[in-house]
Amino acid sequence: MLDPFGRTVSYLRVSVTDRCDLRCVYCMSEDMTFVPRAELLSLEELDRVCSEFVALGVKKLRITGGEPLVRRNVMSLFDALGRHLKTGALDELTLTTNGTHLARYAADLARTGVKRVNISLDTLRPDRFKAITRWGDFAKVMDGIEAATAAGLKVKINAVALKGINDDEFDDLVAWCGARGHDLVFIEVMPMGEIGGDRNDQYMPLSMVRARLSQRFTLMPLADTTGGPARYTRCAETGGRVGFITPLTHNFCESCNRVRLTCTGTLYMCLGQGDAADLRTPLRRSEGNALLRAAILEAISRKPKGHDFIIDRRSQTPAVPRHMSVTGG
Ligand code: 5AD
Ligand code: SF4
Repeated sequence: MLDPFGRTVSYLRVSVTDRCDLRCVYCMSEDMTFVPRAELLSLEELDRVCSEFVALGVKKLRITGGEPLVRRNVMSLFDALGRHLKTGALDELTLTTNGTHLARYAADLARTGVKRVNISLDTLRPDRFKAITRWGDFAKVMDGIEAATAAGLKVKINAVALKGINDDEFDDLVAWCGARGHDLVFIEVMPMGEIGGDRNDQYMPLSMVRARLSQRFTLMPLADTTGGPARYTRCAETGGRVGFITPLTHNFCESCNRVRLTCTGTLYMCLGQGDAADLRTPLRRSEGNALLRAAILEAISRKPKGHDFIIDRRSQTPAVPRHMSVTGG
């Protein structure tokens, strides 16, 4: 699949639920309205859409949310999608999770062919974790990370840099991840969805994070190997990889290879744009996949050149009205 700007679309991110068992302050408001369950694609339908994308050349699938592991019976989707790994049609099946249910699922995930997981963790302090996630239990996430490691999964930690909230422990995160062999990626707060507060207060440019880290560590730039938006460095002191995703201060759209499917079957061609395609209607209109395929190709032909996120200092309005939990980042 080639988009109008010559980029090959080979990566599909699938949000299997917009629900989450946490309420991170930068992601959600405390009282969220979620999609009614009746509007969700079934797990069988999600498999059908994903499989059509694989048939069209998608090589990498990432299951996200919300929190994907709160969707009932989600392992049956991993089982189904794992068959494309066995045939070689798919290179990689991965997962982004908050880790709270990972202890239960890590071994099963490894069995279906998952090799890597991204785990969101913004702090190493249990009290602070509770404050950021509003009601999370730090110990559960630690158990989840341990179980993932024990199951042989490669763990990458995603940490959102939050001014005045976790900005005194970036070096602890680097040391902790380095000691355990986890890659670590810092993310800037993106203006997506109402959160019942002001993101101006939370926003911290990653240039500042890097400057702080440089006081204690030597970060050596690495050639980009993952094809994703993160810029990676190697930390000389820990030997670990430390990445930075800077959507606001750095544009990474030129090499974008991905599109995003929501749990209701809406395809977003760009994280930072509202334009979308309804895949649920063609999916349900016939048992064959011809209509679905045509709708996917039509959507790819509309993939925009890029986003224009800004955190607007005057207005409180998010640049993108939908929450990250709709498309899973
Ligand atoms: N800005 C930046 N990162 C966000 N995440 C969720 N909402 C936002 C936001 N508004 C992060 C989560 C997770 C990843 C999928 O996205 O912490 O690590
Ligand atoms: Fe849930 Fe992830 Fe959003 Fe936190 S950032 S509320 S864990 S979806």
